Amino acid sequence: MVKRAVVVESDDPVAGVSASTGSPRTRSSSGIDWGVVLLILLSVPIALYGLAFAFVPGLNPEFHARLLSLPWYATAHFLGGGVALLIGGFQFSAGLRRARPTLHRWIGRLYLLAIAAGGLGGLGIATISHGGPPTHVGFGLLALLWLVSGVCAYRAIRGGDVPAHRMWMIRNFALTFGAVTLRIELGVFTGLFGWTFDESYITVAWFAWVPNLIVAEWWILRRERQGTQGRAPSR
Ligand code: HEM
Repeated sequence: MVKRAVVVESDDPVAGVSASTGSPRTRSSSGIDWGVVLLILLSVPIALYGLAFAFVPGLNPEFHARLLSLPWYATAHFLGGGVALLIGGFQFSAGLRRARPTLHRWIGRLYLLAIAAGGLGGLGIATISHGGPPTHVGFGLLALLWLVSGVCAYRAIRGGDVPAHRMWMIRNFALTFGAVTLRIELGVFTGLFGWTFDESYITVAWFAWVPNLIVAEWWILRRERQGTQGRAPSR
């Protein structure tokens, strides 16, 4: 059966979707936001892999030995990245935000702490990443943008600017989600396209996150446009 999409408006300031911004939210008539469900289903297995990687060398021995030559950076990265990816998707559930706004705030604080650890760790291990300068720069820039967008999201919410907070969080999670797209793309490039691991790895150091940011920007603009159209014209 085809579910009808409905547009839901909310005045919940935590949700970041207010009548004043007019941003519409679409989800199925059953009330389930399938986009968020998909985001969580894809994120959680990779997040658990990231957390396990800190303690289980056998998951990828060459990477583990090399990265653990910078133990503090590497451990902060795997644990911070793992936690951020594990909990980040839930923040996009409008239902959860409305029903448990305090939980949303606490998950948000933990998420930003995880980004700080994962991002600083990521900056460190970018300098010894597999593939040489193209991956050092690609991953390094990603780590920098991850930290900067996290700081912008935090400053926006501390200043009470909920729409700006939402925008920065969408951008930030698009980067976090790069951990998922990277592993999907690696499989496609090596398995389907027949590229070598090194070719594929250098490509994903950029291609795992630049398209995510473009999609995030498109999503933000689309919601803004829909919001403006949904509003009564001002006189
Ligand atoms: C979005 C910002 C991120 C940046 C800048 C980043 C950066 C890096 C870098 C530079 C490496 C080393 C790669 C190499 O040795 O060649 C790495 C590896 C790794 N990262 Fe991240 N990462 C990010 C997000 C995440 C997230 C969200 C997770 C959570 C699962 C994660 C988990 C891992 C794991 C498990 C490795 C070990 C290598 C592997 O098995 O793929 N990273 N990351």
